[in-house]
Amino acid sequence: MTKTLNSNQFVLGGDLKINRLGFGAMRVTGPGVWDYPKDVKGAINLLKKVVDMGVNFIDTADSYGPEVSENLIKEALYPYPKDLVIATKGGLTRPNAQRWEPVGRAEYIMQCVEISLRRLKVDQIDLYQLHAIDPQVPLQETLGALKQMQKQGKIRHIGLSNFSVREIEQAKEIIKPVSIQNLYNLANRRSEDVLMYCEKHNMGFIPWYPIGDGQLVKGAIAKMAEKKGVTPAQLALAWLLKRSPVMIPIPGTSSLDHFKENMGTLQVELTDTEFNELESLY
Ligand SMILES: NC(=O)c1ccc[n+]([C@@H]2O[C@H](COP(=O)([O-])OP(=O)(O)OC[C@H]3O[C@@H](n4cnc5c(N)ncnc54)[C@H](OP(=O)(O)O)[C@@H]3O)[C@@H](O)[C@H]2O)c1
Repeated sequence: MTKTLNSNQFVLGGDLKINRLGFGAMRVTGPGVWDYPKDVKGAINLLKKVVDMGVNFIDTADSYGPEVSENLIKEALYPYPKDLVIATKGGLTRPNAQRWEPVGRAEYIMQCVEISLRRLKVDQIDLYQLHAIDPQVPLQETLGALKQMQKQGKIRHIGLSNFSVREIEQAKEIIKPVSIQNLYNLANRRSEDVLMYCEKHNMGFIPWYPIGDGQLVKGAIAKMAEKKGVTPAQLALAWLLKRSPVMIPIPGTSSLDHFKENMGTLQVELTDTEFNELESLY
C-alpha cells in the first residue's frame, strides 16, 4: 500500500489511507464550542464541502457542543463515503460552557464509545482518541476500557491526545496507540519530542491549533505570505506538512471561505529556505 502513497498521504494504523490535510470539526459548533451554531444549515453545507473537496480525515469529539459536532457530521455526511475516516474522542466532559473536565472511569469511557457509535451511526469507530488523561483515575483503568471496546470491535484504532512521551510509553503497556494529538504549530513546538517519537514509531501526529487558534495569521508571517503570493494560514499549514511525513494537520473553521483557503495549502510549495525562514520567525 505504501508504494501508492503520495507525499500528502499517510497510512494510519497500517490500514487507513488518509490525506494529510484533514479537517477539525470543533468549530462547526456554537461560540465557545457550546451548543449548536446559529447557522446550522451553513455548518452542514461546510461539512459536505469538506468531503467534496477531498478531505477524508475528520477530527471531532463527543465534548464539542457537547454532541453537536458528531451530530452535524452524521446529519451532513451519512451514509459516509467509503474512504472517510472519522476520528472522535472521549473522556472530557463539559459541566458548563466554560469548563472541560476529564473523567477517565472505565464505565464512563465505555459509555462514551457506545454513545458516539450511536450518534455517528456506525458499527465501528475508525480512530477513537482518549481526549485527555484523568489524573484521578489510573491510566490502566481508562485505557483498559478502550482496549475492551476495541476487542469487541467497536473501535478500530486507538489514539491518544495531550500525552507526553513518558505517558505514551506507559499507555503502550496497555494498548497500541496509532496516533497522538497534541498542541503543535509554528509558534508552539513544545511537543517536538512527541512528534519525533511518532516519526520513529510511524504513528500519526495530529497537531491541534495548527494555525494557533487563528492567531498565526498575524505578524511577520503575513509579510512573508504577501511576498510569496499566498495567505498566512497557508504558510503555517504548509510548514506543518513539510515538517514531517507523519504530520496530519486538522485546521478548524466555521467558514467556507477559510476552509477553501486552507485547502489551497496543497498547492503551496515551500522551499527549504522558506521553511527555515518561517521557523526563525518564532
Ligand atoms: N485534542 C485536543 O485537546 C484539541 C484541542 C483543540 C482543538 N482540537 C482539534 O483540533 C482542531 C484544530 O484546532 P482549532 O480549530 O482549535 O484551531 P486552529 O485550526 O489553529 O484555528 C481555528 C481558528 O482559526 C480561524 N481560522 C481558520 N482558518 C483560517 C484562515 N484561513 N484564516 C484566518 N483564520 C482562520 C477559525 O475561525 P473561523 O471559524 O472564523 O474560520 C478558528 O477560530 C479542532 O477543530 C479540533 O478538532 C483538539
